[in-house]
Amino acid sequence: MKLTLKIWRQKNANDKGGIKTYSLDNVSEHMSFLEMMDVLNEQIIAEGKEEPIAFDHDCREGICGMCSMHINGQPHGPDRAITTCQLHMRSFNDGDTIYIEPWRAKGFPVIKDLVVDRSAFDRIQHAGGFVSVGTSGNTQDANAIPIPKADADKAFDAATCIGCGACVAACKNASAMLFVSAKVSQFALLPQGKVEAKRRVLNMVEQMDKEGFGNCTNTGACSVECPKEISLENIARMNREYLKASVTGE
Ligand code: SF4
Ligand code: FES
Repeated sequence: MKLTLKIWRQKNANDKGGIKTYSLDNVSEHMSFLEMMDVLNEQIIAEGKEEPIAFDHDCREGICGMCSMHINGQPHGPDRAITTCQLHMRSFNDGDTIYIEPWRAKGFPVIKDLVVDRSAFDRIQHAGGFVSVGTSGNTQDANAIPIPKADADKAFDAATCIGCGACVAACKNASAMLFVSAKVSQFALLPQGKVEAKRRVLNMVEQMDKEGFGNCTNTGACSVECPKEISLENIARMNREYLKASVTGE
């Protein structure tokens, strides 16, 4: 395949940035999208005129959430329920023009090219995305607390969120509600999560607002673009948890 690639280049957080056009030949349909980016970077390095394109990646198997980029205006590209690293070039055609841009959100400032700062998600997690359990040699066996299968399944589904930020990128309000609600729900459904439940939801929502993310207006684009298909049901659950905690206090 021969491709025209229109890629966002931005030297640093203060640079205005802009789209640059690249031409890439001999792209195999069997390449992953990130392998195609690697080949483009080898070409850029060989030409020696500019720095290679900075983009995030780590596991390259859909579990770390690092490979965050907009491809033709869609977070993680055109296919459903996969991350950019799981996208293959067979999803494109010879002669295609592909636009590649970073996440666009106040809460995710661009660091360089396609790399954004997603540490806001870490701070939200630190505000309450954990349970405190004794690990001093007297730890209770997990199976000693029976949990209804339906609750365990829903908690597991919520826990599959990889913190990639596609939900924020897809949202017209740059809302982080799908991410935060997944992190609240994975504990809200389990007895182990009840102890800190009120504090958790109040603190995480407060931190989310501080980071500059917008509000949810029930459009649902977040769930459609989410590579883990996190359900909007989690946002409803978080709202209920938040209301309960606000009314009853800690
Ligand atoms: S909810 Fe989905 S899109 Fe949002 S951070 Fe989690 S995995 Fe990514
Ligand atoms: S590189 Fe880890 S999810 Fe894509």
